[in-house]
Amino acid sequence: MTKPEVVFRLESVTKEFGGFRGLLGLNRSAGVRALDDVNLELRRGEVLGLVGESGSGKTTLGRILVGSERATSGQVWFEGTHAEALRGRALRNFRKSVQMVFQNPFTSLNPRRTVRDVLHSGFAARGLPPGAARAAAMAELLPKVGLSEAMLDRYPHEFSGGQRQRIVLARALTVEPSVLVADEPVSALDVSIQAQILNLFLSLRRDLKLSIVMITHDLRVANFLSDRIAVLYRGRLVEIGTREQIMEHSRHPYTRMLLSAAPTGDPDAPHHRPWLAGDATPAGPMSGGCVFHDRCWLRKIVKDPDRCATVQPPLTGLEEEHMAACHFAEQTPAAAEVSLVPGEASA
Ligand SMILES: Nc1ncnc2c1ncn2[C@@H]1O[C@H](COP(=O)(O)OP(=O)(O)O)[C@@H](O)[C@H]1O
Ligand code: SF4
Ligand SMILES: [Mg+2]
Repeated sequence: MTKPEVVFRLESVTKEFGGFRGLLGLNRSAGVRALDDVNLELRRGEVLGLVGESGSGKTTLGRILVGSERATSGQVWFEGTHAEALRGRALRNFRKSVQMVFQNPFTSLNPRRTVRDVLHSGFAARGLPPGAARAAAMAELLPKVGLSEAMLDRYPHEFSGGQRQRIVLARALTVEPSVLVADEPVSALDVSIQAQILNLFLSLRRDLKLSIVMITHDLRVANFLSDRIAVLYRGRLVEIGTREQIMEHSRHPYTRMLLSAAPTGDPDAPHHRPWLAGDATPAGPMSGGCVFHDRCWLRKIVKDPDRCATVQPPLTGLEEEHMAACHFAEQTPAAAEVSLVPGEASA
């Protein structure tokens, strides 16, 4: 197998917000550690799902990738170059190559600009002169995103949510990016429209050979289109693997918890999930131990060892592509037993 080409590489990326380091270290107040020592790569042409509950650091990671946020420590490499070393033409190229698509198409479009205006600004940013070249680019772009000429002179409010997200995508594509970072791009849409937009991402990936980071709190979305899935919890990468490894053979108890919480579409499925107590918002820099230990159901099954509370488990390889950050990942019950209620099992 040839080695995949790496587009982005994150090395030990940590991001802290707020906090205050007083004179001589006095009056120091802790900030929020939104990302903690994240190592991750995005490969050419892949869809990498980035999942986790609200507050787990997904958006922060996306913003670091597109360069709208800087890591507090650690390094971001884009196509082999340190992102902070990009200057001049290389920086301009980077800004075109990496585009972010946000959750809410209702707020990400200027209400006073027609679709034509919006797309022309993008073409101008790419350096395409008005006239024949731009008309040709427009004619090529519209069918790719399922828009028509007749829509060009209308304003965002005249469109449905799904169509607006198509416009947002079209705008991102005007500059011919190679990477899309999509932050919950279907969360604000009706369920009936979500699959259409997700399919659009898939066809764009295929036709334009895009690499896509698909940020979502919804594992069904990640399952639908990801090649690999990375799971974040309180700013730490706790598990990563192929779609199948994560969806069917996950080893981290947090991933299992997310999977068990994903709506099944079965109205009779039990809703009582005692292990879902607590929340994912980081309280501040961790004082050591496993980031998940205060909510972990596996810890009880393995008889509550001290290690969980005192030693941070590193991300460790389980099999090819599959890694998890849990001292006891090998003891997670097989996925077939996932319907067991961990709270009961430990009783
Ligand atoms: N600009 C900011 N200032 C302060 N705290 C922030 C900022 N952005 C994010 N955070 C905090 O960082 C954590 C991760 O946030 P975020 O990346 O938005 O998570 P997610 O997208 O997974 O919901 C949260 O606790 C959030 O409150
Ligand atoms: S290291 Fe311990 S607390 Fe952390 S996930 Fe594994 S079993 Fe749970
Ligand atoms: Mg977010």
